[in-house]
Amino acid sequence: MSFVAAKPYRRRLLLLLLRRRTGATDFSPTCPRRCPYASSSNAPIAAADPSYFSRIFRPANPAWGIRLFSTSVDQFSGGDKNLERIFIQNMTVKPVVIDGLAVEEGSEAAAVGSKEGKEEIADDKISGLEQTEQPEVGEVKEESEVDKEAWRLLNKAVVSYCGRPIGTVAANDVTTAANQALNYDQVFIRDFVPSAIAFLLKGESEIVRNFLLHTLQLQSWEKTVDCYSPGQGLMPASFKVRTLPLDGSNEAFEEVLDPDFGESAIGRVAPVDSGLWWIILLRAYGKITGDYALQERVDVQTGIRLIMNLCLSDGFDMFPSLLVTDGSCMIDRRMGIHGHPLEIQALFYSALRCSREMITIDDGSKNLVRAINNRLSALSFHIREYYWVDMKKINEIYRYKTEEYSYNAINKFNIYPEQIPSWLVDWIPEKGGYLIGNLQPAHMDFRFFSLGNFWAITSSLATQRQAEGILNLIEDKWDDLVGHMPLKICYPALEYEEWRIITGSDPKNTRGTHNSSSMIYFPCHLNVSKRICYWLFDLTKCHFFLSPWSYHNGGSWPTLLWQFTLACIKMGRRELAQKAVAVAEKRLPNDRWPEYYDTRTGRFIGKQSRLYQTWSIAGFLASKMLLENPAAAAVLTCDEDIELLEACACGLSKNARIKCSRLAAKSQIVS
Ligand code: GLC
Repeated sequence: MSFVAAKPYRRRLLLLLLRRRTGATDFSPTCPRRCPYASSSNAPIAAADPSYFSRIFRPANPAWGIRLFSTSVDQFSGGDKNLERIFIQNMTVKPVVIDGLAVEEGSEAAAVGSKEGKEEIADDKISGLEQTEQPEVGEVKEESEVDKEAWRLLNKAVVSYCGRPIGTVAANDVTTAANQALNYDQVFIRDFVPSAIAFLLKGESEIVRNFLLHTLQLQSWEKTVDCYSPGQGLMPASFKVRTLPLDGSNEAFEEVLDPDFGESAIGRVAPVDSGLWWIILLRAYGKITGDYALQERVDVQTGIRLIMNLCLSDGFDMFPSLLVTDGSCMIDRRMGIHGHPLEIQALFYSALRCSREMITIDDGSKNLVRAINNRLSALSFHIREYYWVDMKKINEIYRYKTEEYSYNAINKFNIYPEQIPSWLVDWIPEKGGYLIGNLQPAHMDFRFFSLGNFWAITSSLATQRQAEGILNLIEDKWDDLVGHMPLKICYPALEYEEWRIITGSDPKNTRGTHNSSSMIYFPCHLNVSKRICYWLFDLTKCHFFLSPWSYHNGGSWPTLLWQFTLACIKMGRRELAQKAVAVAEKRLPNDRWPEYYDTRTGRFIGKQSRLYQTWSIAGFLASKMLLENPAAAAVLTCDEDIELLEACACGLSKNARIKCSRLAAKSQIVS
């Protein structure tokens, strides 16, 4: 096989083999994702030779890796254009050391000492850490049969690398033929988060620590699509542990981590959310375990900075929100969310808040923290002011004047009132409201996206009043958003021409086109899985349709339960989450923990849904554990930061030509 023709992962393998043949025994620090073991015993070599890991993970030549040597980081953007370049110079980076071998770091003393250090650092920060009650972790409560079954399945989903747990597969669906597994046999970064929360709350932190450290290594993996590489700091969407023969031998094998940054994903989209989730999880790990030493490691600090750099780098955009392409988050297929989708903005805000807490303050990071603060301030203003809709705001938009050319325009984005969709006119309740899905010049995406709204509550991106309004809306629209299975990924589904144009006629995100009074449901069997799906027969038009409201296009996703629970607990509305958990508990085990449900109210198991989907299982468990232990919810959320509200990072108030609408909007924003 020629090198050029080889698939990317094979190409990497060939490179590694080549390197070994040419006598380079150490691996590039950017690629230390291998773990050999002898096939005969199946035991990791490290077990016999503990120095193995330090040899393999401690590169001889520090100049090989960005993580080990002077990394210059371009000027930060985010409102302050005078920020200096920062240099992370000659860092002596601790190698990734598997737990147990990193004695000095795993020790209790290290964790305690480090926690004290953290508190000192916090005083220096522009805004301090939130002080929260320590959650009760690892408390054995009486488990129901459903919980026991869920734990059994979650443990079964655990993936090991070098004999240690490192993550969970996306789905363990034995009913799907192996050749249809696609990438569901991989560890997805976003999917692992609820698993991690469940494990952390149970007192099992090793898997989370390993996950954080190994994915950190993948961050610097060489990644290209057709000779083009994305910026440093990108985290993969997923990775797989592959077992490969060592040096062509049939007797010795090695394990290799094979990441996917989008280069083999359907649609070739880079996962913008992965790095944001990684930062959010890193903070949760520290807060729940008390092991702050992990986030203080130089390589971990560098990882945080690389992600922040990538997000804060200058571009052409005029908005403080992140500009991304379609499919770069949980909705990883074309669904018309390119631009500034709420989900990414909420995760971005959350990651900025978490990073600010975790970044060690020194000369090299001062400016980064300042840039983060500026961005936080601008972003929260932008989302609170322009994404929020309720009855009053929609009425305002309805009466908008258009084509206003001035600094003081009311209709800043030139929204034509005709854009207000007909469904919204009847749907918006008198009480409550929500953050819209996206905002672009002359475009508001009025669809309700659950994850973005929940995470806006959790991270305090939404104001207190907005957060209450979102939960009021969910209560009011329970049948639409929860129905027979919590929770709708977005509402409503795209239909007809909109579906054809926006999804690119994607059959998985099926179009809906039914009038229920003229429809008959027909069960049908899929050959491979023997699973039941449904066809609809339209009596008026005399033909069949696949069930509408499917997958990302208005499907119902049980995994969203844990984020909903977190939001409810933060807002003192536990009863809402309990009600949703009860709905899910009745069906999930019987339905074999599907990935998603179809139809307007989530009645049917998703047409192409995987069964035994890990984040459905973990999301359910995390929800129940959070409900039992609300103090744990407090360490996963962020409180309102008053200083951010007061700071007008955009500096508009200093500019006589332009009035800062922040002040005008303050009464609405600060409740
Ligand atoms: C689907 C989902 C994505 C998830 C993946 C693995 O592609 O859209 O969010 O990460 O499955 O479960």
